Amino acid sequence: MNIKKKILCIGAGYVGGPSMAMIAYKCPDYRVTVVDISHERIDAWNSSELPVYEPGLDEIVRKTRGKNLFFARDIENQIKENDIIFVSVNTPTKMFGTGAGMAADLQYWEKTARQILEHSRSSKIVIEKSTLPVKTALAMERILSSAKGKISFEVLSNPEFMAEGTAMNDLENPDRILIGSRETKSGLKARAELSDIYARWIPKDKIITSNIWSSELSKLVANAFLAQRVSSINAVSALCEKADADVTEVARAVGMDSRIGSKFLNASIGFGGSCFKKDILNLVYLCNYYGLPEVASYWESVVKINEYQQERFIANILSSMFNTLAGKKICILGFAFKADTGDTRESPAIHITHRLLAEHAQVIISDPKALKNAAFDLKDENGEITYTEDPYRAASGCHALALLTDWNLYRKLDYKKIYKSMIKPAFLFDGRNILDHKKCFKIGFNVYPIGKPALSHFKVSPDA
Ligand code: UDX
Ligand code: ADP
Repeated sequence: MNIKKKILCIGAGYVGGPSMAMIAYKCPDYRVTVVDISHERIDAWNSSELPVYEPGLDEIVRKTRGKNLFFARDIENQIKENDIIFVSVNTPTKMFGTGAGMAADLQYWEKTARQILEHSRSSKIVIEKSTLPVKTALAMERILSSAKGKISFEVLSNPEFMAEGTAMNDLENPDRILIGSRETKSGLKARAELSDIYARWIPKDKIITSNIWSSELSKLVANAFLAQRVSSINAVSALCEKADADVTEVARAVGMDSRIGSKFLNASIGFGGSCFKKDILNLVYLCNYYGLPEVASYWESVVKINEYQQERFIANILSSMFNTLAGKKICILGFAFKADTGDTRESPAIHITHRLLAEHAQVIISDPKALKNAAFDLKDENGEITYTEDPYRAASGCHALALLTDWNLYRKLDYKKIYKSMIKPAFLFDGRNILDHKKCFKIGFNVYPIGKPALSHFKVSPDA
């Protein structure tokens, strides 16, 4: 087949891998290559066990890999070979120097920019796909504009809005595609070229354009708004527990207002994932940088409520279980930061496990996809941790279950069987409100949901 475009993506992670697989799938006449500094990652992409678990991803990779989708190690050659370069390397929160704990750590990203500059032999379109602080494209342009001779680079911002667990559907049917560019002749031309790629499968009215800074900021703001909804309902859940209201009922009534909408109103142990906290802290840093401390502290409170919600969950376990967890076995159902992913980055389960171990509890962790990542996250913890994929085996002999991830399989477990195998009194802390609490109470559990009254068999409260 005649290759119409040659596309490269630098960074083969949760964003780069799935998004390039979708482009290759939708555009069989384009050649898409993905590179990464981690050879292990590239090898995994070329194997039968992909480094990222995402429903539907295996199938698309199977259909395209080796035909028009390639995972390669030779970054330098690939930069020379390709005309359109997506950059989706990681941009974690900076942990040192100015902006530590807040600003984005741009070292990986800057290295990539310099690498593109060094190895390019022809003009390229360079597209930011990682979430980056506003004005990063400007820095990228500055680095790339030092190119000598006739080579020129056009930098575009094209933030990725897909969510993990639903990535393939989000990539196939996105709410919108946003492309930020300069309004110059060459900027508009590059914008049109990128639009053409997406127009292969996405309706034109969903492909929107803006200036680069608006595009960069939109991604941070979209994530901040989503996280804010979770923190809002979680803050309300604390009030519901005191006021004997039910947060699910409140969320349903509030969400039916079409101006508010019903999505993202599930009270939980708090949001995790690689984006929300990082992007909000990034926004906070920007606000402070531009002399807007009130705006900064407004957004910072979204993160604070998230931490508060996790602490509340721990405090509830401790007080319900007679103020001591020493030597008790707690089974954690779900370690991933949400269902349908093996990703554990910023998962509330990390902090909750840490706190349980600090109370000298024994922790048994179960998860269908995230145990490898969990073991890596917890490698420096002291204390007794066991990893058991089978939830029945994990729960057997435990004093309590703490459900932390909304995996569908946990809705369907035989809780009667589980109850029988546990030490009594048996406790159930549903950190996602996904179980039938009345049914579990009838089975014999003392049930502690989020934002609704506890269902306890004790005549007096255990911490009274
Ligand atoms: C998010 C954005 O949704 C996505 O657009 C962006 O591209 C990347 O960041 P992601 O982090 O993958 O995606 O998952 P998301 O579905 O947004 O969930 C984030 C966290 O919030 C999860 O821990 C989830 O469990 C939690 N959450 C979400 C709740 O606790 N309650 C809700 O109602 C919704
Ligand atoms: P995201 O969720 O944003 O995709 P990941 O951490 O999953 O983040 O993926 C980012 C990928 O980028 C990692 O696989 C990492 O090895 C890769 N990476 C980081 N820096 C570079 C670089 N300079 N060149 C190539 N790949 C890089």
